[in-house]
Formats: sequence, structure tokens, C-alpha cells
Amino acid sequence: MTDTTTASHAASAHTTAHATTADAGSSQDNREIRWGIVGTGRIARRFAQGLAYVPHARLAALWSRRAQPAQAFADEFGGTVCDSFDALLASGIDALYIATVQDSHADYAIAALQAGLHVLCEKPATINRAQLERVLAVSRASQRLFMEAMKPPFYPLYRKLRAQLAAEPIGEVGLVRAGCSVPGVPDDHPSLSFEHAGGALLDIGIYEMFLAVDWLGAPRDVQTFGRLGPSGVDTFASLNSQHERGISQLFCGLDLHGKGDALLMAKGGHVTIHEPWWNPSRATIRYADGRVVELDEPFEGGGLNYETAHFCELIRAGRLESPLMPHDTSLQMIAMADAARAALGLKFAGE
Ligand SMILES: NC(=O)c1ccc[n+]([C@@H]2O[C@H](COP(=O)([O-])OP(=O)(O)OC[C@H]3O[C@@H](n4cnc5c(N)ncnc54)[C@H](OP(=O)(O)O)[C@@H]3O)[C@@H](O)[C@H]2O)c1
Repeated sequence: MTDTTTASHAASAHTTAHATTADAGSSQDNREIRWGIVGTGRIARRFAQGLAYVPHARLAALWSRRAQPAQAFADEFGGTVCDSFDALLASGIDALYIATVQDSHADYAIAALQAGLHVLCEKPATINRAQLERVLAVSRASQRLFMEAMKPPFYPLYRKLRAQLAAEPIGEVGLVRAGCSVPGVPDDHPSLSFEHAGGALLDIGIYEMFLAVDWLGAPRDVQTFGRLGPSGVDTFASLNSQHERGISQLFCGLDLHGKGDALLMAKGGHVTIHEPWWNPSRATIRYADGRVVELDEPFEGGGLNYETAHFCELIRAGRLESPLMPHDTSLQMIAMADAARAALGLKFAGE
């Protein structure tokens, strides 16, 4: 970190809700965590690559509907290929990483929790709030850990930013602005699939909803403009929302090209989390008194390793919920997505 005008402060202060490493409790316990994966597509590869950077954890078993890609995955990353999802649940793993497309997340999560496993589930955790409430009820009943795999809060940059703002505050953040729109995904990509509950809001917007909820609290009113594409899912949405502590301005899309930095504004200054802020490594804090603090925190292992390491620590500490990615945050994010989809008239099967 370079502070261009003042000596930098030690990153010692932190809040309970955003503790840095104390988040999961202890650390003498080096028990190995045996992971299973369901769904061996693109994000599962990144998870498996990241697992190599997580101490005392290994890929033990996996299953996907098609045997050949699952076997190729195991040949590359290790683990035993199971014959069925039930066989995966019974394979002796401690935790399941759900890396299928989102229409199947809730069913897999509930089955795994009921089987006594801890569950790290790709984003969006479920396709709507009602599904997520069911998953969380099972997590509580079975006393097993559940966490949505929302990666940004676990990156070194994000933690450093929290620590810096605790040490040298800018005041309460009152506006969050973030957006990302990525055109040109192939027609058969799950993002454009109505059947798999794709769409820009659940694929991309959910990261932005995380940022808004994390800094501003629960949404109170979500106003949305947007459009649906030929497959029936949303291809662009612009949201203006009132939260407990401020306003968020978000956009997400699959039909225009536009990425950018994220902006957090407060009375005492503003923060730019530089693109790609969803895999954050650089931020600039501009204080109202003229000081500028640059944060530069490269990440290793592809980035998913930080949430995975945190999740392993939570298991060892016997926790049922992450303090950095709590259940309420996931509920508030998906409530925003539900409200935005309702405004666009987008309902998925069974809704
Ligand atoms: N955290 C991140 O940075 C990040 C980035 C990208 C995507 N994601 C999320 O990760 C999830 C997967 O995305 P992806 O890009 O990896 O998709 P993908 O490449 O299409 O992979 C999905 C995998 O799941 C399997 N699958 C799909 N439906 C299934 C079902 N009902 N039961 C069992 N297996 C099923 C597919 O293989 P079979 O058809 O052979 O079963 C495939 O291996 C999505 O929810 C997405 O939002 C997260």
C-alpha cells in the first residue's frame, strides 16, 4: 500500500461484521477437509486450481451428469469419479462445492446438507428468495455450514480496503455504483438459458447486488429498467435502489459492452475499486482532505482459493455461517434480483 500523503496505519482495526482473519475462529486445527464437486464445468476448473493453494484440503470425489468430462476433470485435478450424485454424497467427503448451473443449486444443496455435508454453493445460491429460505432452513436443521460462493469479500484487496477504512475512515458509505455488461456469449451458454434460469441479473448483477448490500445494507426499494432477449431471459437491466444506509446504482448486461470500476461514496471521501472489481486487486481511496491512498494487493491461485480457505476454517471452527458472507447478505441479494425480475416480467419455471 502506498499512502501518498500520510504514513500508513496498521490494519489493526476492524468491525465484527467484517473481521479480517479472525473470521473463522481458531487456527491450530489442521484437520484435512475432503472436498467433493458436483458439476465439472468452467468454474469447477477454477475451484480445483485454487484448491492447490488451500492448506489441508484436497479434492476427494466428484460427479457430473456426463461421465467423460467428469473423468477428464479427475485425470487433471485428482479425485474419484462417482457413479451418481448419491454416491458422491456417501463418498466420505466433508464438504460439497456446487458448480452446476443455478437451476439445480437448491436441490443439490438441500440433499447435501441433509446428508450431513457442508455446502459451498456457486452464485447465485438459488434462483429466488423462496428457494434460498428452504436451503437455509435445512442448513439450520442439519447444523451444517452453508455459504454462497461470492468471491470478492475474501480477496486480499477487499480485506485490506475494509481494514484501511476502519483505520482511516471516510464515513458511512452512502452510494454504491457498479456495472458490467458482457456481450457475445454463445447462444448455448447457460447465461442465456431460460431453462437454467440464466440472465444478466443472476449471472452478473448478483455480484453488484453483493457490493450494494455489503456496504449499504438491506434493499428497501428496487427500481428497474431493462429488457429481455430472444431466449426469454434478461439481457440488460439498470437498477436504482434505496437501501438501509444509502442508494445503489447498478447495471448488468449480456447485450452491450461495458465494464468499469466500482465506486463507493461517503462524506469523507470516495473509493474506486478498479476493474475487474469482482476479482479485485487495486483500489484508490481519495479522502475529502486531499489524501490519496492506493491499495495494490495481487491475488494468487485464481482467487477462489480465498473463499475456500475461509470455508475450511469455518468447518474446523464448527461455524454454520460465514461472518464475511452471512446468510442475510445472500437473502438480501436474491431479494433484489427477485424485485428486478418482477419489474421486467421474468418468471422461471415453477415461479
Ligand atoms: N464465482 C465465479 O467467478 C463464477 C464464474 C462463472 C460461473 N459461476 C457460476 O457457476 C455455475 C456454473 O457455471 P459454469 O460457467 O461453470 O457453467 P458450465 O461451464 O456450463 O458448467 C456447468 C457444469 O454443471 C454440469 N451440470 C449442469 N447442470 C447440471 C445438473 N442439473 N446436474 C448435474 N450437473 C449439471 C454440467 O455438466 P453436465 O451437463 O455434464 O452435467 C457442467 O459440467 C453457475 O451458477 C454460474 O453462475 C461462478
